[in-house]
Amino acid sequence: MSAQIATMLQKTNSPFWAMYNQGFALVDYPSALKRKVFSLAQQAENFFSGVRMGQKKRFILPCESNWNSGYIHRTSEDGFDEKEYLHVQPNFSQVLKDHNRYDDAMEIMDAGRLFLTAEKLLNEDLREFMLDSADLISEDNSYLDNLSDQIKKAYDENYVVLRFLHYTPHKVRDVLAAPHFDVGGITTQIYESKPGMQFLTPTGEWIDAPMQPGLAAMFPSWGMQCMTDQHCIDSQKEKILQNTIHRVVPKDGLTERYSAVLFIDFPDYPNWDSDAWGPTRDQPMRYMPRQLI
Ligand SMILES: [Fe+2]
Repeated sequence: MSAQIATMLQKTNSPFWAMYNQGFALVDYPSALKRKVFSLAQQAENFFSGVRMGQKKRFILPCESNWNSGYIHRTSEDGFDEKEYLHVQPNFSQVLKDHNRYDDAMEIMDAGRLFLTAEKLLNEDLREFMLDSADLISEDNSYLDNLSDQIKKAYDENYVVLRFLHYTPHKVRDVLAAPHFDVGGITTQIYESKPGMQFLTPTGEWIDAPMQPGLAAMFPSWGMQCMTDQHCIDSQKEKILQNTIHRVVPKDGLTERYSAVLFIDFPDYPNWDSDAWGPTRDQPMRYMPRQLI
């Protein structure tokens, strides 16, 4: 095990130690990067709360990849969690230009500054952070030796999404985001305005995500599980990593919440096919956990 990750996990003195076997990692979150991310998250909150819906919807930008680009609004009427979010990809400026929205963005409040700063951070500091962290995660996981390559390739092919997320205020429910695992490769939680995110341990308990200063949580999605599945097939070993099931619950009865998440798909491994395998409104677990497949 990477000495740094081992130390971080043990420091939390929590069930996350057990989740190491699922590929869960806490990594050092450089303070300079954290300051930049938190500043951007504040700008994103201003965008969500300060820009009229009509204007925000001008930035709904269809994209050829698996991810939408720009602004997205979801409601429970459409079968989703109540939320709005903003997706920024490594080529976001070009996407804006392709849709004739670049000049609009520069004219709306601070939207232009937010979009360009987020794109720059994604391509520079966050890319370096992900590659450094991938080296740590791969250090003692030989079956993940192509993690860095997949991240580089993901950047080259715009398979990377920086998501600013806003759970909009609504009637209090038990859960803001239903239990699910992520459909890409690896997920990194980089900002939360308040607690509420929880992970499912191998023994079936929900535990709060560690929100500790100086640490960021990274966890495997479907693609990272596939990466190890391939290794398992090649070496005829047991499965190694699993996607990580998580959910978001309201704390103190308050449903409004902001967060920022970095999603990286692995171009050489399949995304979860939601058309073929879910989601369904009747299925409490939005995506089928591995052990049920
Ligand atoms: Fe998720």
